[in-house]
Amino acid sequence: MSNDIKIKEITTTLNSNEFVFLCQIIKKENTDSILASLSESLIKQYFQILINSKNIYLYICKKDNKDVGYVIFSRKPSFLIDEFKQLKYSIVMNLIINFKVKAILNILLSLFKLDLIFLSKTKKNFIDSNFNLNLLAIERKFQSQGIGKRFINKVIENLREKDDFNLITVETNNERTADFYEKKLDFYYVGKKIRLFKNLKIFKKDLK
Ligand SMILES: CC(C)(COP(=O)(O)OP(=O)(O)OC[C@H]1O[C@@H](n2cnc3c(N)ncnc32)[C@H](O)[C@@H]1OP(=O)(O)O)[C@@H](O)C(=O)NCCC(=O)NCCS
Repeated sequence: MSNDIKIKEITTTLNSNEFVFLCQIIKKENTDSILASLSESLIKQYFQILINSKNIYLYICKKDNKDVGYVIFSRKPSFLIDEFKQLKYSIVMNLIINFKVKAILNILLSLFKLDLIFLSKTKKNFIDSNFNLNLLAIERKFQSQGIGKRFINKVIENLREKDDFNLITVETNNERTADFYEKKLDFYYVGKKIRLFKNLKIFKKDLK
């Protein structure tokens, strides 16, 4: 057993083991995400679009050849809506059928840009025009071993080899996760995003 981790960017297709791993970890660790509310078939379509996108990146974290985590980065937050336009009706129908009222209301808040009303124009601008860390999880039995920190630092290093950016934003409604971003990865709090029924805290990290 080695302490080291490896990162794998998914650029062509997900193999079936990776897909099963992603579905399981998203449903277990990212329970508040819209993705976790969707059917497996929609999650599959979502990942297919993501992998074909030039604007959204998916990385898997491997330890001793085993999948232990994943992260999704978007070149701008807007790509997380624009690139999935073809799925929007299926996603909304899926949420309605499963009575995910909170998720639907939060999508509306975001579509009408009501969720950022408490932020200054400057802050909105830098959020809108920079990289966003969208979703992340490390499998539970591997958490709190420093893997998340090493994984994100390696992925940022890899992304910066192919893209020129100096700032990343991320959002969370969970205090422990906020601690991870602030204390382990040197993110700074910049403001809040309105969400039912718990607001998101927005953080940024300067890479200059
Ligand atoms: C947040 C997370 C990715 C960090 O990965 P990790 O490998 O545990 O991170 P590290 O070991 O580098 O850092 C650990 C720190 O993260 C935080 N943390 C640990 N477990 C956590 C958990 N279950 N949930 C949230 N934060 C956690 C704590 O601040 C911890 O510090 P500590 O070990 O000194 O208590 C991981 O814990 C996780 O997948 N959490 C659940 C899903 C989640 O919150 N995803 C992010 C939002 S999309």
